[in-house]
Amino acid sequence: MDPVENPFAPGAGTPPPELAGRDELRETIRVAVERTRRGLPAKSILMVGLRGVGKTVLLDRMRDDTESSRIHTLRVEAPEERSLPAMLAPELRQALLRLSRNEQAKDLAKRALRGLAGFAKALKVKYADIEVGFDLEPEVGLADNGDLEHDLAALLEVVGAAARNAETALILFIDELQYVEEDELAALITALHRAAQRRLPVMLVGAGLPQLRGRMGRAKSYAERLFDFPEIGALEDPQARVAIEKPVETHGVGITADALQRIIQETHCYPYFLQEWGKHAWDTASISPITLADVELASQSAVAALDESFFRVRFDRLTPVEKKYLRAMAELGPGPHRSGDIARILKREVTSLGPTRNQLIAKGMVWSPNHGDTAFTVPLFDEFMRRIIPGYEWLK
Ligand SMILES: Nc1ncnc2c1ncn2[C@@H]1O[C@H](COP(=O)(O)OP(=O)(O)OP(=O)(O)O)[C@@H](O)[C@H]1O
Ligand SMILES: [Mg+2]
Repeated sequence: MDPVENPFAPGAGTPPPELAGRDELRETIRVAVERTRRGLPAKSILMVGLRGVGKTVLLDRMRDDTESSRIHTLRVEAPEERSLPAMLAPELRQALLRLSRNEQAKDLAKRALRGLAGFAKALKVKYADIEVGFDLEPEVGLADNGDLEHDLAALLEVVGAAARNAETALILFIDELQYVEEDELAALITALHRAAQRRLPVMLVGAGLPQLRGRMGRAKSYAERLFDFPEIGALEDPQARVAIEKPVETHGVGITADALQRIIQETHCYPYFLQEWGKHAWDTASISPITLADVELASQSAVAALDESFFRVRFDRLTPVEKKYLRAMAELGPGPHRSGDIARILKREVTSLGPTRNQLIAKGMVWSPNHGDTAFTVPLFDEFMRRIIPGYEWLK
């Protein structure tokens, strides 16, 4: 089929031609956002899931949904090694400038901009990476203590008051939240808690790897009650079929039942893999419908493409010791695995492997579903590790 017309879209954060199976959650968010706007109780929502399940594209779609009902949003991605205030300040400024154009919100939005100036100035001592333009002079005593937990709560409070006056809300969309330091997460939780108690229209819709839930709980023990943590995972079988069939049919192309079945099998219904298989099956087939033979051929190039991109970017960030640890895990299968079993494969003591395991958690490569268990955050990573480091040579 003509590759120019190929509808499939494998890639980090690349919107799929058909966002399958996420309607219910989008509706949940729509309801929560609207309740927040009206000053009714609603929980902030943190979506957790493995790599490539579609958290980012879902977050972006939810943001579009939200903006189309004329509610203010801001969108950030927490990078590794950048502070939360540095990341939030410029986006908050933009949101406040937009809010200040609203007649009812104008005065409070301006006050919030003063608060933001004081916030940035005071916190610059601790978080040198904060860079934000000042539109107005700080107001003495407003969000300028120099203590993140206090100042962020004070700042979100004025921001929320401004949004309330304009009968709108401010929804924070934050991706990769697991990279935020625990004390900064604690500050964010406190600020949202305060806003919720005062029924201010401020809410968080976040996404992150599964370790996020535990990190939130450690940052503030009440976080588990304050937020909902829907799990985003592989699609259900029928939804995965829709993800492939619908884009194909839109182009007047067919796919045979056994071909579709094979794609389901190979991808385990993981969104990223579905896009990759869809793309390669399309390119391989010369005429409609796409057949099993096409998919069989396409599987080879799909795996090769994943190895070179999706898996490779993660692999290249690992130290030799970390590679060895993950290879030992892979030897045991998909997991989760007991720390003792991994240590046995490596012929090491469990305690001596602690630092490596911690680094891998910090890098977002593994997580701990239960105490003493270790699991990959990347689906099918065990198979990849066995492909890229075959045999037992690596153990020596
Ligand atoms: N519901 C869906 N239906 C079909 N394809 C999807 C769906 N969700 C995501 N995808 C596709 O899966 C791929 C991965 O999506 P995305 O980057 O949002 O995942 P992610 O969970 O944010 O991954 P990471 O943890 O690596 O950031 C993209 O190519 C996207 O088009
Ligand atoms: Mg993502």
